[in-house]
Amino acid sequence: MRVLSWLRRRPASDGAALTVPAVAGAVPAATGASPAVVTKPKREPIVTRAELALAFSTLVVLAGVVLGSALVQPPPVVHSVAQFVHLACVVLGLGSVLAVDWFGLRWQLGHGTLREVVSTAAALAVPIWLGLGGLMLSGMLLSPDYGSTITLVKVAMVGVAGVVGVLALAVSRRLAARTNPSRRLLRAGLLMATASQLAWWTATVIGFLNRS
Ligand code: HEM
Repeated sequence: MRVLSWLRRRPASDGAALTVPAVAGAVPAATGASPAVVTKPKREPIVTRAELALAFSTLVVLAGVVLGSALVQPPPVVHSVAQFVHLACVVLGLGSVLAVDWFGLRWQLGHGTLREVVSTAAALAVPIWLGLGGLMLSGMLLSPDYGSTITLVKVAMVGVAGVVGVLALAVSRRLAARTNPSRRLLRAGLLMATASQLAWWTATVIGFLNRS
């Protein structure tokens, strides 16, 4: 597969590993120098604990939305306005996620650069989060039926979109800082893009099935 073979051609280094001498540990005893201590370069984490904590804090916001939606009973006019806002936010959020992943796909297929992908992701971060935030707020006013399994699956998918969205921002910041990103980091980016697409599309399809 072309994408996989492309990934294989990428260097496996994080850049940091280059600071270790290529012949570390091979210093001859005759030179009188003390044996070199080879310390394996510490691999930089793909995401830090703080970023992970921030990502999971989106679940707290989602829990607030679920609780809020169980407590409010909006009048029909508010429901109608919320339906429109909900649709507009699907356009904004999913549209922006699609744009970023489109640049990612083009780059994987050999068109465009990683820099383009990363700068598109940075430029569209605000519309993505406005879209997702708007979907949560308007969804709260749409009286979701939590007795339905697909609604629960949808809420889970919204959670995945939120968590992965924050992690993807962290990965893309790291990608932007590297001229020669590691395969690990690239794979993480690919995984996040796939998970985010799956979550957004599943939520969209379930929303469509649940429309009144
Ligand atoms: C990634 C986030 C989300 C996406 C992509 C999404 C997508 C959609 C779509 C496409 C519809 C159909 C709209 C229509 O045709 O009128 C819909 C409806 C709905 N959504 Fe969402 N949604 C998201 C988040 C949420 C959240 C967080 C909630 C509530 C907690 C929610 C609750 C609902 C409800 C109750 C409906 C049915 C509205 C009705 O027609 O009465 N959604 N959603």
